[in-house]
Formats: sequence, C-alpha cells, structure tokens
Amino acid sequence: MASYETLLVERRERVALITINRPQKMNALNIQTREEGARALEELREDETVRVVVFTGAGEKAFVAGADIAEFQGRTAVTQRDVMTGRSLFTAVDSFPKPVIAMVNGYCLGGGCELALSCDLRVASENAKFGQPEINLGIIPGGGGTQRLTHLVGEGKAMELILTGDIIDAQTAYRFGLVNFVYPAADLEAKTMELANRIAEKSPVALRMAKEAVKTASRSTLDEGLRREIDLFSICFSSEDKDEGVSAFLEKRKAEFKGR
Ligand code: COA
Repeated sequence: MASYETLLVERRERVALITINRPQKMNALNIQTREEGARALEELREDETVRVVVFTGAGEKAFVAGADIAEFQGRTAVTQRDVMTGRSLFTAVDSFPKPVIAMVNGYCLGGGCELALSCDLRVASENAKFGQPEINLGIIPGGGGTQRLTHLVGEGKAMELILTGDIIDAQTAYRFGLVNFVYPAADLEAKTMELANRIAEKSPVALRMAKEAVKTASRSTLDEGLRREIDLFSICFSSEDKDEGVSAFLEKRKAEFKGR
C-alpha cells in the first residue's frame, strides 16, 4: 500500500479503514487530501481481500469540518471548477464497487457532510454534528450536497439545512434520515466495524450489483430503474457466489462467498 501524508490506511481483515488525518485542521479536505483519498480508493478497488471500506476522521473532534476554507482565498471560478470536476473524492466513493461506510466521530460539515453523503451508510457517534454551512461563506455546497442530501432526506429538510447553514446533532440527523445508526462515542468504532464485518461476509458480486441497483433509483425513471435491476439481478446468476449461496441455504450451512 502506498503511503499518504494526509491519510492513514489500515486493513483489518476484510475491512479497510481510511482515516483522514489532519486533526489540527479538523480534518478539512484540502486538495491533497481529496487526491490521496481518490488514490487510496483506486488501490483498494483492486484489492480482492478488501470487501468494505470505512472512512473516518482522526481525533475526537471532527469527522471532516468541510473543504479547507484557506484554499478558497483568491481562488478563481475556473480553478474551483477544475478542483470539483477533476479527480473527485465524492465521485470515487459514490462509484466505488464495494460498500463504503462513513464512521462519523464529530463535526461533519460542508464537504465532510458531502463525503458522508457519498458513502453508502452513515454511522454516527452521539456527539457528531452535521451541517451544510456553506451559505455562511457566501457559497453553496459544490460536492454533491444539494443533490445527494435532497435525495436522502427530501427537499424540505435539505432546503432547511442548506438555506440556514444550521448545524444539527446526531439524533436530529437520525430523525432526518441522514444517518443510519447513532451510538455512544465509546462504542462507535466497535459498532461500525461489526456492521462492516457483517456486510463483508456477503457476496462481493451481489454487494456490487446491489449498490449499483440502489443508486440507479435516484438517477433514472422508475421504468429504467426496474430494467436495470433485472439486468443486475440476472448478472448475479452468472456468479459462483450465487451457486454457493443457494447450496449453502439448502445444505443448512453458512455460505462462503469468494467474490466470483
Ligand atoms: N477549513 C480550514 N480550516 C478549518 C476548517 C475548514 N473547513 N475547519 C476548521 N479549521 C481549522 C481552524 O481554522 C482552526 O485552525 P487554527 O488552529 O490554525 O486557527 C482549527 O481547524 C480548529 O478549528 P476551530 O475553529 O478553532 O475549532 P472550534 O472547535 O472552535 O470550531 C468548527 C469547530 C468546526 C465549528 C469551526 O472550525 C468551523 O466552523 N469550521 C468551518 C466549518 C465550515 O464552514 N465548513 C464548510 C466549508 S465549505
């Protein structure tokens, strides 16, 4: 595994843990962090031993407190557009062919919230705080926040967060449907790893098809989505994992999926 200056990448059996490691800056996403994150995902994508990826932030205060605001100073519209359309961390997470979980351990703001929104599941500690405060800087979310947040929580709640820039606590985020689970801070890592390991036991082929199918729902018409689902469902029937899953059920034993 390559080494990174702004990330720690650790493999724990079938789960890879990516820790954004700029705690002195509340793990704010500068250009280097985004590029390294996308590069780490490229490596993990090819690694068959890794079946689930978990993103978190170093330290106890923040998951990610947003884009690195210091980099905004003096930046032109053209440069900013290049940053967002170049090697996008958010797109890399969204299109990653394995499940990605955000383990949110503190401030999850702006680009941090957008990173969490790009993930497939969000697990938060009780002290986590969520928001899209870009409006307070005279800008709007630019990493998918206006779109992914709206798809996840609906237009009313997305408007509320984006127009006010208000920061909400983990329980409110849970009520909004922004996070899947909330745990006491002391249990966050164990509970998240338990979830990641449970998913890592499933068929990697089926996980990949499931992720793509679910993502299709918000990006197509119902008819297109239903057709895509049938295609992806049918692809599962070409896998050894499907034979193993069905045989294991009939033989009353636990399936051992190989990702083939
Ligand atoms: N970009 C760059 N630096 C950031 C940052 C960001 N998004 N968020 C925090 N930091 C830096 C602070 O500037 C500070 O650096 P310094 O010690 O060199 O001055 C350090 O991280 C600690 O932050 P601080 O503001 O002192 O901590 P706090 O506990 O008082 O407040 C926050 C925490 C998250 C509420 C506050 O830092 C904040 O509002 N951050 C910006 C959030 C935001 O607007 N994000 C969207 C960006 S588009």
